[in-house]
Amino acid sequence: MTQRYDFKVNPSRPRLINLSAIHHESGDITVIEEGSHSPFSFRRVYYLHGLNPESARGSHAHHQLRQLMIAITGSFRVRLTGSGWEESYLLNDPNVALYVPPRTWRDLDQFSDEAICLVLASEVYEEADYIRDYQEFRNISELPS
Ligand code: TYD
Repeated sequence: MTQRYDFKVNPSRPRLINLSAIHHESGDITVIEEGSHSPFSFRRVYYLHGLNPESARGSHAHHQLRQLMIAITGSFRVRLTGSGWEESYLLNDPNVALYVPPRTWRDLDQFSDEAICLVLASEVYEEADYIRDYQEFRNISELPS
């Protein structure tokens, strides 16, 4: 049965979302559906692959963008920082999505071999939405949203 989430609860904090997995003898299907599993409509999908296990990605925040991150294969760590909080997640399950709210600094690392990070994004790519300077992020994240 599809688990429906109340996305009005703390939309400015990260959360893990259990996706709907349909099991078949021949393989599984995992569904990500707006309203049931995501608080936003997807306007862009991309994925990180061919990742060097020694590398680090992210190191930025966004003004508006909301995202879901899923470890489609393998595993990696996602460290998130917001206004007055820090959380760390090990993503290693294709049936679990991590909701990343706006104004959240993210660092991704500890990529396993063959790790793939699928990202569903609420907006198309816009460099102006990025906050790439950590001090600027700190200044902005102290502001009320
Ligand atoms: P970036 O979002 O900084 O990567 P990550 O968070 O995975 O480390 O993007 C890396 C580069 O790719 C940057 O030059 C912008 C470009 N890019 C696009 O052109 N379109 C996109 O949709 C994304 C996600 C990145």
